[in-house]
Amino acid sequence: MGGEVKPGRAGLKSWAQRHLNSGFVVGFFLVLFTYLVVSRQFAISAPNAVVTTQAQQRIVDRKVIRTPEGTEGEEKSEQEWQPKVRDEEEPHKDTRGAVPAKELPERDYADGKPFAETWGKVVCNTHGPYSDTCELDGDVRINGTALSVTLVPSIQSERREWKVPPYPRKHMLGIDDVTVTQLGSPPKDAAAPACTVTHDVPAVLFALGGLTGNYWHDFSDVLVPLFAASRRYAGDVVFLVANIQPWWLGKYEAAVRRLSKHDAVDLGRDRAVRCFRHVTVGLQLHKELSIVPEWAPGGRLTMADFTAFLREAYALPRAVAAPVVEKRRKPRVMVIHRAHYRRFVNVQEVARAAEAAGFEAVVTDPRGDGPLDELARAVNSFDALLGVHGAGLTNAVFLPARAVVIQVVPYGKLEPMARTDFGEPVADMGLKYLEYSVAAEESTLLEMLGPDHPVIKDPESVHRSGWDKVAEFYLGKQDVRINVTRFAPTLEQAMQHLRKQRQQ
Ligand SMILES: *[C@@H]1O[C@H](CO)[C@@H](O)[C@H](O)[C@H]1NC(C)=O
Ligand SMILES: *[C@@H]1O[C@H](CO)[C@@H](O)[C@H](O)[C@H]1NC(C)=O
Repeated sequence: MGGEVKPGRAGLKSWAQRHLNSGFVVGFFLVLFTYLVVSRQFAISAPNAVVTTQAQQRIVDRKVIRTPEGTEGEEKSEQEWQPKVRDEEEPHKDTRGAVPAKELPERDYADGKPFAETWGKVVCNTHGPYSDTCELDGDVRINGTALSVTLVPSIQSERREWKVPPYPRKHMLGIDDVTVTQLGSPPKDAAAPACTVTHDVPAVLFALGGLTGNYWHDFSDVLVPLFAASRRYAGDVVFLVANIQPWWLGKYEAAVRRLSKHDAVDLGRDRAVRCFRHVTVGLQLHKELSIVPEWAPGGRLTMADFTAFLREAYALPRAVAAPVVEKRRKPRVMVIHRAHYRRFVNVQEVARAAEAAGFEAVVTDPRGDGPLDELARAVNSFDALLGVHGAGLTNAVFLPARAVVIQVVPYGKLEPMARTDFGEPVADMGLKYLEYSVAAEESTLLEMLGPDHPVIKDPESVHRSGWDKVAEFYLGKQDVRINVTRFAPTLEQAMQHLRKQRQQ
């Protein structure tokens, strides 16, 4: 009996319910992990041990709220499920040396050996900023319920073992490590488990759960790394999913199906021993919500390739913002109006300022908890996205190329984090990134706390005190009242960028 799950089945509704209930808690995850990284980069000293404990505590809280449900997969017989053997274009069929050395970047090779020499080997990369991954080529056998991936070597070798977290951020509660073993040469090592299913296509093994459910993490942690890992296979790859979340596969079905035309395997319920010739264990998170082109296995991939891929997957009509044929149409800006915190207090005034700058402005709260294809199409009809730092800006992935994203950074020295989460990703997507930093006078924290409070007077000291106060005040208790006079030049810059394109 297999544990395959068709995306698009259960859980959309329950996901929405869970998401709405836990939105507040989940929201802080958007920033916590990058905050930790950014803190290190910018030497904002945070007592690490304490921060870690807090992080884990939040994860515990979140798990309680987001207990998976309805995770039953649809079962099919092995016979019915097995992918058809394809004779044409089977890069992993006749194995040794068949795949050129450039297919994997050098940094993926522990000892820098070219690909042909790695046949029958496990090559693990444990140096990534967030994640460990292993690539296995040769006779690979997978016992899903045991989360064990075993390589039977074709050459004389020593037994080696790695523990690989299948989610691209380490130390996630609820996500077990995968044990990757390179067996030693017999007779020292026992025989590997016998194959019950043999696949002619490669596999990518990864976990769901973790921080998914937050729209930004859905992309940064899973969709983008999964794209980087599997795009080279043009759909002919099997996804082996640990800690499976059917709602997630349902929500992102169009994208997942375009990366893999085969049904995903629910490893936790899979009683088969599946055999492959090439397996990637774990996902590489290169950088937040982006791709480092040289690190993509199988050749250069960029974030612009990812957004082009989404436009294909969701059949989005506009590839490029404000094309010349639409000269008489005003560029449209989507003003993201968050529901809870980090809201625009004067959202209508902001919208009017955008119209005064020449835009057609639409105020909306696109949180990504409705059908994604509708949201994607809606966002794609805009030329600019304007919002306060938050998950809604993730929608930039659906904008046409060369559109503009304006991130409003709340008060409190949040720029490094804001740039890591959205500024760099947006630029990597080939979009124009503009940033507007809110002054103390535009923050509701000023009237709430008064000018002498350290939160207003000395944001650095708040950062030094650790994540808790940063999250509580700057992210959790702050709304912004934009001074539209001060903001006008930013809107003007956005308009100029779009005009320039129109004249081309
Ligand atoms: C897979 O591993 C589990 C746990 O170690 C074991 O009980 C099971 O027999 C293994 N399955 C096969 C088919 O070897
Ligand atoms: C708004 O910004 C303008 C330009 O920076 C400034 O002159 C004005 O005093 C600000 N208004 C308020 C109410 O702070």
